[in-house]
Amino acid sequence: MPKADDLFKDLREHSIAEFFRKNAQMLGYSGKIRSLTTVVHELVTNSLDACEESNILPSITVEIKQIDPETILVREMDNGPGIPKKHISSVFGKMLAGTKFHRNIQLRGQQGIGVAGVTMFSQMTTGKPVEIITITKDEAWDIELNIDIHKNRADIVSEQRISPVPERTGVEYIAHFKDVQFSTGDQGPYEYLRRTAIANPHAEITYIDPSGARVHFPRSTDQIPRPPVEVKPHPKGIIVDDLVIMAKASKNRTLRGMLQTEFSRISSAKIKELQQYLDFDLGIPPRKLGWREAEAIVKAFRKMSFLAPATDCLRPIGEKNIEKAMQNILAPEFLSVVERRPTVYGGGYAFQIEVGVAHGGHAGRKTSSGEQRYEIMRFANRAPLLFDAGGCAITKATQTLDWKRYGLKDIEHSPVTIFVNIVSTHIPYTGAGKQSVADIQEITQEIRFALMDVGRKFNRFHSHRRRLQEHTARRERLLRYAMEIAPEIAEMLRRDKEEVEKKWIELIDKHVGEILEEDETNEDTGLQDPEKDSENREATGSIPSQKLNKAEDLNMEESLKDIGGTAEEGRSLSLPSSHKEGRTLSDYM
Ligand SMILES: Nc1ncnc2c1ncn2[C@@H]1O[C@H](COP(=O)(O)OP(=O)(O)OP(=O)(O)O)[C@@H](O)[C@H]1O
Ligand SMILES: [Mg+2]
Repeated sequence: MPKADDLFKDLREHSIAEFFRKNAQMLGYSGKIRSLTTVVHELVTNSLDACEESNILPSITVEIKQIDPETILVREMDNGPGIPKKHISSVFGKMLAGTKFHRNIQLRGQQGIGVAGVTMFSQMTTGKPVEIITITKDEAWDIELNIDIHKNRADIVSEQRISPVPERTGVEYIAHFKDVQFSTGDQGPYEYLRRTAIANPHAEITYIDPSGARVHFPRSTDQIPRPPVEVKPHPKGIIVDDLVIMAKASKNRTLRGMLQTEFSRISSAKIKELQQYLDFDLGIPPRKLGWREAEAIVKAFRKMSFLAPATDCLRPIGEKNIEKAMQNILAPEFLSVVERRPTVYGGGYAFQIEVGVAHGGHAGRKTSSGEQRYEIMRFANRAPLLFDAGGCAITKATQTLDWKRYGLKDIEHSPVTIFVNIVSTHIPYTGAGKQSVADIQEITQEIRFALMDVGRKFNRFHSHRRRLQEHTARRERLLRYAMEIAPEIAEMLRRDKEEVEKKWIELIDKHVGEILEEDETNEDTGLQDPEKDSENREATGSIPSQKLNKAEDLNMEESLKDIGGTAEEGRSLSLPSSHKEGRTLSDYM
């Protein structure tokens, strides 16, 4: 039997870069199509984040070139603030180095791994360094680098100062990739950028594909989203380990001071209340906080009540912007957008849901066999999520809703586009690839509420349209009948045929219009409660016969008086020859 020492003779430490090199699929590098979209995603989200933080209207260019049958070149360029040269190595050549991970802030990036992951993927598939051109207000550089995988740090291959372009800042990233495939399909770069444009109407995006075709997504608003605001952690969202780590790093003199200044919603009154739960004094220096004390504080936080976390740190796209974007792109017959109020999940993270549903026009998508399918556009902090739909909270919320109740009998085969954006300072992704949001009850529930709201509006639209169609058909049948008998009535009354016809039209329109209005009023009073929607739909599914009778019972007496005849005369009229077999108005219905 081998001795313990023998087993451990191969014990080694590995760098985070080595780990992700071996597990590149965790960062989204699995499958050739997905890998290319992941590259575009990481670069574009960084550019949009950088512009937003610097209050710049983003102009982004993405170019994809097929260099040879195996190799693709990606070039991405932004007009952000640029990156100072001294940070280039960490940003592009070191995993888990970023400016967002440690801040509770609503941005697209979170982990500090995205773009170093792109460098690593380029390097492991081509062996070539990547090229970065950075222009800040003060300096401009063209740098080539690799990642030293064992040390998780950049290896600069070349660096060259370049002359800055006046009034121009930004970053350009150029890299080669193998094991990737260009696709024009639903999960390819075009669709990714199209969706990015929908969710970021303030961004201008230019896309050049391998054929050289250039697509321009212009910005539809000049309004830059207000810069993201960092929020302090909320006491309800903290775990013991977080508290211990914060205490070690704190510069506050006392634990009391640390809790009050480094957390949100902890007032001096709350500190007094907290003290009552504890058997140690909050005046101790933070570094003296041990696990036992931290545990006691977190337990006390759970029993106490605090104001909910501030939600003004959230920056939704906004109903108007979503409406405009969906209208422009889908030109639907029905469109409704709902923005829920901000709320909190896990006790400590603020989030907000925005939902838009379009029906008809170009909504939905057609499969390659021409079959009509619905489409769910998922976004997290305005970044499109194109993969791992199955395990995502957005998909679950959409698929578990009883759409039949809202007038959509077979949503999966309907021309419907559902747009959902989750806005949060911390999106609970299911993995480092950031393509799917965890099914957390509060989040899934909020999405469902938003969808129900839109569903109710669709139901109203749908019933209205159906009634309109029924009434139009009925009007036509009545008119046909009326026009047939109009010449005989005119002859008997010695009036112009046109005059009689005109009167018939007025009369039919008035009656059909009145019934429609009556139906709408009845419908509007019964659609508030989603639980009752199915009953309402059934009740309004057909026009009650009583009302039809009213439509049939056109007031001939009135009509004849109006054109100078009498009711007597009117009633004594026999039907024209073709109607002599006893047919009545209802035969035409
Ligand atoms: N185009 C850019 N312009 C300015 N700064 C950038 C740009 N790209 C990256 N950065 C900076 O580099 C850091 C690291 O980027 P990286 O994509 O690795 O991580 P992240 O965006 O913070 O998080 P995530 O891993 O979720 O993408 C960012 O936090 C940002 O500060
Ligand atoms: Mg990033």
